[in-house]
Amino acid sequence: MQQDIITSIDFGSKKFSATIAVRGKENLDILAVKSCKSIGIEKGMLIDSEKCKANVLNLLSELEIKTGKNVKGIAIGISSNKVRITETTVIVELDEDKVKSHDIIKALKKAQNSITISNDESIVDILINFYILDGKVIHKDILNWKGKRLEINLTLVIAEKKEIQRYYEIFKDTKYNIDSIKLNILAGKQIFLSEKNSMEYIALVDIGAGITEMAVFNNGIPKSVSSIPVGGNNITNDLAICGEFSFLEADNIKKIYSSNYKSLYIDDSLPDETEIGTIKVSRKLFYEVVNARIEEILSHINMKLKNTGHYDRICSIILYGDGINYFEDIGEIIRKIFKIKTQVVRKKDLGIKNPENITSLAIAKEVYDRLNLLEDAIIVPTNKSNDKINEKECLHNIEVENHILKKIKVFFGKIF
Ligand SMILES: Nc1ncnc2c1ncn2[C@@H]1O[C@H](COP(=O)(O)OP(=O)(O)OP(=O)(O)O)[C@@H](O)[C@H]1O
Ligand SMILES: [Mg+2]
Repeated sequence: MQQDIITSIDFGSKKFSATIAVRGKENLDILAVKSCKSIGIEKGMLIDSEKCKANVLNLLSELEIKTGKNVKGIAIGISSNKVRITETTVIVELDEDKVKSHDIIKALKKAQNSITISNDESIVDILINFYILDGKVIHKDILNWKGKRLEINLTLVIAEKKEIQRYYEIFKDTKYNIDSIKLNILAGKQIFLSEKNSMEYIALVDIGAGITEMAVFNNGIPKSVSSIPVGGNNITNDLAICGEFSFLEADNIKKIYSSNYKSLYIDDSLPDETEIGTIKVSRKLFYEVVNARIEEILSHINMKLKNTGHYDRICSIILYGDGINYFEDIGEIIRKIFKIKTQVVRKKDLGIKNPENITSLAIAKEVYDRLNLLEDAIIVPTNKSNDKINEKECLHNIEVENHILKKIKVFFGKIF
């Protein structure tokens, strides 16, 4: 049955990552994950569907061959640029004195109709935050509970139609279709929010290549999403311009030196210029350019978080994505700029083989949870009317932060 296969794609500025999973009896069974170079995405926005199409179709067909599965429906993970969220509560009377999937679907439809959006917008996803059944708050596993009156607190994800339209164009005239649309940053909740930290205000910050995305959660409920169009590409660009390298050369140099660029900078016994193949790199220039840009990116993030109106309540920031986390003194720079406890999550903290695929895995998990709740009904009421560290900062070395790591382990333990 087609719906038993869950396929998700994270549309990143640097890479596309896809996951194929099967909805098992108890668990989500991951069959394969794969990533490839992204094209057509800039600063988190899809700007060229045609260019994007070839790589995406190729990635999907490779995964189909690897798994022997025939994919049709896809869940896409997109950036939160030009997307807003809003929270609402709807009430449904239970006609069978029990909570059934159709009651929840009814509530989702009601929510869709209850809010006003402009003609240029469309509701792309509805997240269920919690339920109140006859006055009692319930967070999950509501199906078949007895009751008469169900209130559901929901978060609606609203995007600009013309931006979403481009994603539909990728799959036009192919055998694939978009089943659901998820925000990459909100899917991060699946991995990083644990029962233990979810009561607090937590900010997830994903610094990628072209975009930095932020989401503030309280009690697991998204309170704000925001983004800034900066990331690792800006560091690369700065290096390319200042060192007169091509973008590709600068990106390679950056990755080679990120883990020891400060040690090299302060080591006076070295000549200023070191060689990588035929390229000469000034360690002083490297340090100064990179350091200034990282500080700027983090200050920007800090400002954005301040503008959410939740800043004073945020207990911790979880920083992931590959954009700046690999630089040697990242913890030091973070402490200089953020006054809030910040945890840097790097690939090795995730303890899995292909950690670059975490977001597509998280999206697959979201779709799986939703399918279990709504059974064979539409996955999400997508509005298709628009169809045309320093080692010390590393997570596993910080005791107080171990619960986050545990949560990550539980997440991957469950699905692998
Ligand atoms: N070891 C490293 N040192 C420094 N930078 C790195 C390293 N590895 C990757 N990067 C940088 O991380 C960025 C890619 O991050 P990521 O894979 O999270 O982006 P993405 O999800 O494709 O893009 P986005 O989320 O911005 O749309 C690139 O700028 C890349 O150069
Ligand atoms: Mg990303």
